[in-house]
Amino acid sequence: MALNADDKAHIKAIWPSLAAHAADYGAEALYRMFLCEPQTKTYFPNFDFSPNSAQLKNHGKKVMNALTEVVKHLDHPEQSLSHLCDLHAYSLRVDPGNFSILNKNILVVIAAHHSDKFDSATHQALDKFLNCVSAILTSKYR
Ligand code: HEM
Repeated sequence: MALNADDKAHIKAIWPSLAAHAADYGAEALYRMFLCEPQTKTYFPNFDFSPNSAQLKNHGKKVMNALTEVVKHLDHPEQSLSHLCDLHAYSLRVDPGNFSILNKNILVVIAAHHSDKFDSATHQALDKFLNCVSAILTSKYR
């Protein structure tokens, strides 16, 4: 489902609060994903899965910063994701089903830390945004 003007406004309104905690929120989303869906660990050999590990923070920051780049270009989301499409599809071969799992955990982290800003319209906009990113990241699988 395409993002409408209201969705974009809601995403842009909350995103600076999330970008300011990129490493922490990204690490927490990954930690929750690995905890709730342990099969996702198979893509990360030799990884330190303990809470707040340096690797979790480092990778979490990369994921959140990639999303921040997309937020900066919401009218052309595919542009900033082109390199990541190739990486996830051809090199990493991440099963597409895992994207919705990570998305769910990113939403949980946002809701947990920003309940005041996480009204239903913002929830819906972020859900659409993350689904849009996933659709782009898995588009090369076809
Ligand atoms: C919102 C969706 C996602 C985004 C924005 C994202 C973003 C990224 C970024 C920015 C990198 C680093 C690329 C680089 O260093 O050049 C990366 C690497 C990686 N991603 Fe994703 N990713 C997403 C979903 C997933 C999912 C669902 C999985 C698997 C469960 C996954 C597994 C990996 C792995 C294994 C790497 C390589 C890690 C390493 O060895 O450094 N990604 N991703």
